[in-house]
Amino acid sequence: MSSPDRSIDAPGERRRALLPRPAASADATAGRPLVPMIWAQTSGGVIGDDGGMPWHLPEDFQHLKTMTAGCPIIMGRRTWESLPSSVRPLPGRRNMVITGDASRAAEIQAAGGETASCLAEAYRRVLEAGHEPDRPVWIFGGNSVYTEAISSGLTDAAVITVIDLDVDGDTHAPELDPGEWELWTHEPPEGWLTAANGLRYRFETRRRTTASDTGAGPR
Ligand SMILES: NC(=O)c1ccc[n+]([C@@H]2O[C@H](COP(=O)([O-])OP(=O)(O)OC[C@H]3O[C@@H](n4cnc5c(N)ncnc54)[C@H](OP(=O)(O)O)[C@@H]3O)[C@@H](O)[C@H]2O)c1
Repeated sequence: MSSPDRSIDAPGERRRALLPRPAASADATAGRPLVPMIWAQTSGGVIGDDGGMPWHLPEDFQHLKTMTAGCPIIMGRRTWESLPSSVRPLPGRRNMVITGDASRAAEIQAAGGETASCLAEAYRRVLEAGHEPDRPVWIFGGNSVYTEAISSGLTDAAVITVIDLDVDGDTHAPELDPGEWELWTHEPPEGWLTAANGLRYRFETRRRTTASDTGAGPR
């Protein structure tokens, strides 16, 4: 297991302080960590293709690293497999991988990841292992895990990198109903940032406005 590294984490703590807070009452969420989702997508909602991402945006990798450093990340088995073996498990973070396949679980564990058989178990195990409540538990994808995190009420926030790119893909971001998910922050305030390779992108956070069973988690 990779243990949190506080020494590299000051930028992450500053940025995470801006994460949307749940709409539920303070009583309902007391002591629970934030459980935001994080992904990068094209303007058309593509997040993946053929087991990878159909773009190269180092600025987004840096953003992802900054936001998740020192925090647990929960991902599906296909997302785990999409990571280059040289950075798998992603360092300085607990990598919790969901798989229903025992032989794949053994391979993931041998490579340094932790495994759980479903999202509920993954979340429970992260909390059981002495998780510091001031640290978010990140939902790291892919589509199947985002979708379950939303439908189960586990997550109330999304940190999204939108890339101004028109490409096809086989995996899409989950639908966030604008009536239920408000735009919380966007950077820059208007227009786009431009990467060193010329790609245009922006960072958005969205917050679920309905307080439902915030933080109760999957059942
Ligand atoms: N752009 C981004 O920010 C971003 C982020 C993440 C992922 N991605 C992309 O998304 C794609 C992968 O996403 P995906 O939706 O196809 O797959 P995924 O969600 O990463 O993984 C799906 C797998 O996870 C396991 N799983 C998920 N939920 C489960 C449950 N409730 N119970 C048991 N097992 C469960 C199953 O593994 P088993 O089959 O082993 O049982 C399932 O086949 C890749 O192309 C990746 O590059 C992009």
